Amino acid sequence: MKTALITGASQGIGAAIADKLNYNKIKVILVSRSKSKLKSFQKNLKFHKNSLIISKDLRSLSACNSIAKKIKKLDYLINVAGATKGGKFLNLNDNIWEDGFNLKFKAAVRLSRAFWPALKKSKGKVINIGGGAARNPSNTFMIGGAVNSALNNFSKALAMQGKIDKVSVSIIHPGMTLTERLQKLLETDSKIFKKSVNRLLKERCKADKIKRPTNPDEIANLVLKLLKNRNSNFKNLSIDGGKIKNLK
Ligand SMILES: NC(=O)c1ccc[n+]([C@@H]2O[C@H](COP(=O)([O-])OP(=O)(O)OC[C@H]3O[C@@H](n4cnc5c(N)ncnc54)[C@H](OP(=O)(O)O)[C@@H]3O)[C@@H](O)[C@H]2O)c1
Repeated sequence: MKTALITGASQGIGAAIADKLNYNKIKVILVSRSKSKLKSFQKNLKFHKNSLIISKDLRSLSACNSIAKKIKKLDYLINVAGATKGGKFLNLNDNIWEDGFNLKFKAAVRLSRAFWPALKKSKGKVINIGGGAARNPSNTFMIGGAVNSALNNFSKALAMQGKIDKVSVSIIHPGMTLTERLQKLLETDSKIFKKSVNRLLKERCKADKIKRPTNPDEIANLVLKLLKNRNSNFKNLSIDGGKIKNLK
């Protein structure tokens, strides 16, 4: 049985991916901060015996390394956890910028490095979840844009190393996806723009010429497809209803 470690697996996109992989008979290791959220999610997995939870705050090097010490064999590393804050430029202090980079960018780098020997051994795969803001900057989502751009660059570079070491590396950029996080970001913007969350969502879909936001399950399907594909190094994919115009 293959084993996948999924960060940010207690809710949203990470949970959808974990659910999909578990359903497809992959052992899942679920990582996030909250033990209680992880436990209640784990209970509902179809094959919950094929799962393990690890509660850690991934913003530190020691937390990332301690996870790798516990897990001896790994086939798939799926970096999903991210909580970059949106808001006006002058309201985003240094700590908020550091938190954004520590969790989404540095944890992906640190876990990839810590698990690389295990992934080399299993000829495994890394899939990073980036975000459309990597290529579409926004003045109210600066940290997310910068973090996702950095993750994009890192993923390509790691894929080059992966060619040598037989580890496949890919990155998926979701567009607006219906999760708790999207709800929170829209609530922040709702205060800035003085518009309701529903109105903002409708306006953004219209401006992006998309019919609807992405569903987390659609991203989970794409992850599963990449994991099953024997020749998936290096895929850089957007799943955003056609919002992004460029090919890469
Ligand atoms: N939703 C969107 O529209 C969208 C669009 C583009 C990209 N993305 C990206 O997709 C990823 C998932 O987003 P989402 O919408 O599913 O977010 P979400 O619903 O807020 O879930 C975030 C997950 O990360 C975990 N997490 C947060 N802080 C953590 C920390 N310090 N250490 C460990 N785990 C932590 C959370 O669990 P705990 O609270 O238990 O720690 C949760 O499981 C993010 O990287 C996000 O940038 C999302």
